[in-house]
Amino acid sequence: MRVLGIESSCDETGVAVYDSKQGLMAEELYSQVELHARYGGVVPELASRDHVRKILPLVDKVLRACPCVDGQPPVDAVAYTAGPGLVGALLVGASLARSLAVGWGVPSIGVHHMEGHLLSPMLANEMPGFPLIALLVSGGHTLLVDVQAHGQYRVLGQSLDDAVGEAFDKTAKLMGLPYPGGPQLAELAEQGDPTRFDFPRPMVKKPGLDFSFSGLKTSVLLTWQASDQSEQVRADIAASFQQAVVDTLTVKVKRALKATGHKSVMVAGGVGANKRLRAELDATCKAVGVRVFFPPTRLCTDNGAMIAYAGWLRLKRDGIGSSYDVPVKARWSLEDLS
Ligand code: KG4
Ligand code: ZN
Repeated sequence: MRVLGIESSCDETGVAVYDSKQGLMAEELYSQVELHARYGGVVPELASRDHVRKILPLVDKVLRACPCVDGQPPVDAVAYTAGPGLVGALLVGASLARSLAVGWGVPSIGVHHMEGHLLSPMLANEMPGFPLIALLVSGGHTLLVDVQAHGQYRVLGQSLDDAVGEAFDKTAKLMGLPYPGGPQLAELAEQGDPTRFDFPRPMVKKPGLDFSFSGLKTSVLLTWQASDQSEQVRADIAASFQQAVVDTLTVKVKRALKATGHKSVMVAGGVGANKRLRAELDATCKAVGVRVFFPPTRLCTDNGAMIAYAGWLRLKRDGIGSSYDVPVKARWSLEDLS
């Protein structure tokens, strides 16, 4: 079975084809970073318009890379991100996906963006056995999820304010790093001293599995304003901030493992690309005999492959006759899928 996946929930246009026998056959990604950079953040209307410009040529490109039989539809289903995300941007992908599906006479499947992220480590690894803990760390969400099985999700904890990626981006911005700051801050952190500034590890002393990152961000702001704002200070703040985030996430993952007794962790979402986070979660999990799975770095941030794959898993589970053609939603809890 072959599924075309279309992602357009924010500022990346991602398109891919997943084949159940051959794996990922083709993937294309267009990032709108340059378009939004001068505004310091994503401008929703510009994002939608740019998806309209880029999406069809990308679909054309991935389909050309996948040989198909004359007279047959090129894929067996079309999966698209139905939410959560920017509604205008989501509508671009959803409209195209549903039109293509009608034209080809195949089903269309509305995929939950965070389920796409959650399942993405499986594109690289052998299937981790359920149940497991998923740590989803992106620009819009920070979630700890108890995954009982594919499609059965219970949110154990989430951020009460900024998402982790958002905290990375805002911290980078306040120290004058260009948008999108997360990856740049992480790169700068490699030259810094993570022990120089003792930033708070938010909510680690309180019981529970929720997160909060706005206080940490304020603490960085005050430290930055009181400093000489030299290059070394910037790198040391970046490293110390990153360490505070990584420590916080690690503590909460350990706590979730203890609370559930699960023996596997999957990490996904844009911040899952963070090298320090990957290294520390790897070491922590190994030390307690737990397996940890990450997607390949390029599939941590938004992409069409995870949507194609999540769509295929749904079809495999429920059969081609089932209907998943859901309307787009700006807000949508993962738990609603259960
Ligand atoms: O998953 P994603 O592409 O989009 C959302 O669904 O939100 O995540 C994007 C977020 C951004 O906030 C970006 O700064 C952050 O992931 N990010 C990183 C790194 N790479 C991307 N944050 C820290 N370290 C990185 N290496
Ligand atoms: Zn995402």
